Amino acid sequence: MAAAAAMAAAARAARAALRETARRAWVAPPAAGRRAFAGAAGSAGPAGAALAAAASLRGGSLSVADFMRLALTSPEGGYYMGRDVFGRGGDFTTSPEISQMFGELVGIWHAAQWLAMGAPPCVRVVELGPGRGTLMADFLRGTSHIPGFHSALDIHLVEVSPALRRLQFSALGCRPDALEKGSAEAGVPDGRECAALGGAGPPVRWHTELDDVPEGLPVMFVMHEFLDALPVHQFQRTEEGWCEVLVDFGGKSGDGAPGPAAEGGGGENGGRDGAAATSGGDAPRMVLSRGGTPAARALVPTRLACMPHGARQSARLLEVSPAAFGVVKDVCGRLGRSPGTALIIDYGKAGGMGHSLRAIRGHRFVDVLDRPGSADLTAHVDFEFLERAVGQSGASVRSWGPVTQRHFLKSLGIDARLEQLSRGSSDTQRQALEEGYVRLVSEEASGVPGVPGMGIAYKAWALTSDGLAAPPAFVEAEDEA
Ligand SMILES: C[S@@+](CC[C@H](N)C(=O)[O-])C[C@H]1O[C@@H](n2cnc3c(N)ncnc32)[C@H](O)[C@@H]1O
Repeated sequence: MAAAAAMAAAARAARAALRETARRAWVAPPAAGRRAFAGAAGSAGPAGAALAAAASLRGGSLSVADFMRLALTSPEGGYYMGRDVFGRGGDFTTSPEISQMFGELVGIWHAAQWLAMGAPPCVRVVELGPGRGTLMADFLRGTSHIPGFHSALDIHLVEVSPALRRLQFSALGCRPDALEKGSAEAGVPDGRECAALGGAGPPVRWHTELDDVPEGLPVMFVMHEFLDALPVHQFQRTEEGWCEVLVDFGGKSGDGAPGPAAEGGGGENGGRDGAAATSGGDAPRMVLSRGGTPAARALVPTRLACMPHGARQSARLLEVSPAAFGVVKDVCGRLGRSPGTALIIDYGKAGGMGHSLRAIRGHRFVDVLDRPGSADLTAHVDFEFLERAVGQSGASVRSWGPVTQRHFLKSLGIDARLEQLSRGSSDTQRQALEEGYVRLVSEEASGVPGVPGMGIAYKAWALTSDGLAAPPAFVEAEDEA
């Protein structure tokens, strides 16, 4: 019980930190400083000043979770806050950006769930972390032929980035006259309703966090590559017990020995080499706390408790996201109060992954500490741990899967959809469709033998209110992944 209370406190603290981020985002609107940051950042990175200020308030160092949160979503130079980061010209490409078939099939899955709920006249669709809005645009196109579905939809998008909200607004065909003009928030869609598809489509509203989305209707959640962007704490077992990995700014914290990265990388997952190369001067470096921190005392026992005995004994590195845990628990609470479903697609696996935090810039892995705010930071989703959030929510909710993305898309008919779209397409279009298909369902990354492709690296996980039938694609493959 004490561990559960500590988890809840950690999740509350993560939510409070996000609220603060959001509040300050509106006080310091993006247009003023943000636009310049991509090129104007010095070697400290666009979020360097915000990180250094936060570290100095905390004795010189930050948890990896605070570092990640500020580097990604600080209003002062946070990676997501001021620009489009997706696609060839950006840093990484997600499944909805690879092929329209992805969002269309996600839409079909939700339409099937709506029908399974008895086709209620109003259903809330809540997408967390919608990126460019491509998934939701394809979701709407892919379901336009289903009688009554669009007129039942009430769409809510949870997005912290003002710049990405603007892209989502335009991807969904919302009309600019719905936006406030001449204020600090000009051009940034918010909680006020606008209609998608040029004014003829379902109503859409934006929120900074899930807490702001109203309850009281049947509800369907969708999260694609959202949980992997939420902050993680990292811990390492030492002779003194479990210590926390901290990001030290200028070595003023007196907080201990170089961490796993500074020891030359490796970790259970390999590949963290180079992280210590930034040490020296005021450049941040990874260190280990002396002894346990409050986060280590709250989170390590809870995470270990989810593991089988052998894995618990041998665990040396742990990565825990109380923020992701909090989101899943909140979603389950909502599914306990109103009928509904959630579809979560992300990379990860059922067991813990050691330390998986990575930075990606220009489609390449880079040092996590290099110019924070200029690279995406992402950690594998720990489905085994999140399963515990379902139980801890106390809600009557069933969990399905995870299954591989390949299984999910094939069960929903991606082969038939490819064939249908290919008919009547030009050779170039057909080739693009086929390349997209292969990337989405492949078991091996192209040109990199032994590295899992998106078809198996990504998993689909579903949650349903008790009493709903097995969702499509989860019927026969509950424990495939
Ligand atoms: C990796 S992107 C995925 C985008 C999209 N789902 C896709 O697959 O293309 C993560 C998304 O989550 C948003 N995001 C990250 N942290 C967030 C937070 N704490 N609250 C709300 N949105 C957040 C980002 O701005 C971005 O839209």
